[in-house]
Amino acid sequence: QLWLKRIAALQLTVSLALSAIHPDLFEASRDVLEFCCKPDFHKGRTHEWASRWNSVFSALTVICDRKTPPHTDSHGRTNYMDALVSLGTAAKPKLFFKELNASFFYKPGTVLFFSGRGWTHEVGDWSGGQRVCYASYVRPEILEAHRSSVSGWSIRV
Ligand SMILES: *[C@@H]1O[C@H](CO)[C@@H](O)[C@H](O)[C@H]1NC(C)=O
Repeated sequence: QLWLKRIAALQLTVSLALSAIHPDLFEASRDVLEFCCKPDFHKGRTHEWASRWNSVFSALTVICDRKTPPHTDSHGRTNYMDALVSLGTAAKPKLFFKELNASFFYKPGTVLFFSGRGWTHEVGDWSGGQRVCYASYVRPEILEAHRSSVSGWSIRV
């Protein structure tokens, strides 16, 4: 199952990119995932599913052939980064940020990291082809359930 392997590789890649962009978020989320992989600490099959999860992000949304109206993500935190991977054959997808009054080209193969809670974002008409987006998020509830939190914004320079 080639596509499953490709998705796994993609998940791993966005996770590694997060480790460079927002190390605190990466480490907190990775520690929780590692904990969930330990069979002794959980009832049921949590460790089995956690061991198969190739990403430090705790949620994944797949968007296919849909416009995305302007919104901010209610589940995130302003200092967290989401990863949006653009795939498919869409001709001219663009991601518009309201507060910046600016659009970013978002052609298939592009990955954008930004705070989906902090910035109002929108994808309008993409001028033909198939639009596919894999959006990865860290859910704050999952970190908090493990008494972990992330207060920083990104890399310290
Ligand atoms: C947003 O940018 C466009 C040009 O790209 C400009 O015409 C428009 O006035 C700007 N809107 C605001 C609210 O600044």
